[in-house]
Amino acid sequence: MKHKDLISIVDLTPKEINQIFKLTKKLKKLHKKRKDHLLLLDKTLAMIFQKPSTRTRVSFEAGMYHLGGYALFLSAQDLQLRRGETIKDTAMTLSRYVDGIMIRTYDHQDVEDLAKYGTIPVINGLSDLLHPCQVLSDLYTIKEKKGRLKKLKVAYVGDGNNVANSWCYGAAKTGMELSLACPSRHQPNEEVVKRASGEAMISGAKINILENPSEAVKDADVIYTDVWSSMGKEGEEAERRSIFYPYQVNEELVSKAKKDVIVMHCLPAHRGEEITDGVMDGPHSVVFDQAENRLHVQKAILVLLLGK
Ligand code: CP
Ligand code: NVA
Repeated sequence: MKHKDLISIVDLTPKEINQIFKLTKKLKKLHKKRKDHLLLLDKTLAMIFQKPSTRTRVSFEAGMYHLGGYALFLSAQDLQLRRGETIKDTAMTLSRYVDGIMIRTYDHQDVEDLAKYGTIPVINGLSDLLHPCQVLSDLYTIKEKKGRLKKLKVAYVGDGNNVANSWCYGAAKTGMELSLACPSRHQPNEEVVKRASGEAMISGAKINILENPSEAVKDADVIYTDVWSSMGKEGEEAERRSIFYPYQVNEELVSKAKKDVIVMHCLPAHRGEEITDGVMDGPHSVVFDQAENRLHVQKAILVLLLGK
């Protein structure tokens, strides 16, 4: 890949996305056959977490181990960042010790600054604005399940959050049709939608910003949802529950999509809120295959960025 970092899907060309997917397929096969794939021997990844994580932490850490490397978990609480050391100085210091940094943070600018001042690859493991590793894994999962991406229709139902924003770029780069149904005050980021719409003109993708979930899921091949209150929005939970209730992905909504629709959720889910137990555990759900693919896709990203 021609980039040093993975900060946003918008920076990737469709060719680079394919390159990630091709390597993912190989690595997944090797992993399933329990065959060695020590492509990052002696490489070290620092993982900075300002927010909690189950999937991102474990998949990156296990992934580095599978590749023969080492991953260090760094809680921002324990770093000097908490005591005011700047991202710039942190980036310049870590660049002397390790081969790559993965960061999960609030302010997207932190990711940009780490990449700017660090001399080693930086991977965005979620910011308030974007969650690119998640959506790359989601795209890979859809390709596995449906055999292609182009022209498939994805309905994103719920909060126009970091995952929704990355979905705008993901769909735009791969020629999908994305209909987002979000309440009027919780639409995806305007700048992102503008940029993604520009990209869509090149790829033939379509991005529709809607408010009505039933309209969005009509003829959908994929229904996608995420929590109504992302990390950092804890104070707004009660208000958000009442606004988002009509956006619940339940059996009735799923019945309005294509018969073979797959249902996705980046997890963690709040069962009984944005998704019902019946849907999450039902025949359309692919949520745990989706979670598994974080491991395989991120290993490919790590090899492409940190490998020789
Ligand atoms: N989907 C996802 O990023 O999960 P975690 O918050 O558990 O890492
Ligand atoms: N939108 C969610 C994703 C969690 C993986 C959040 O930011 O909390």
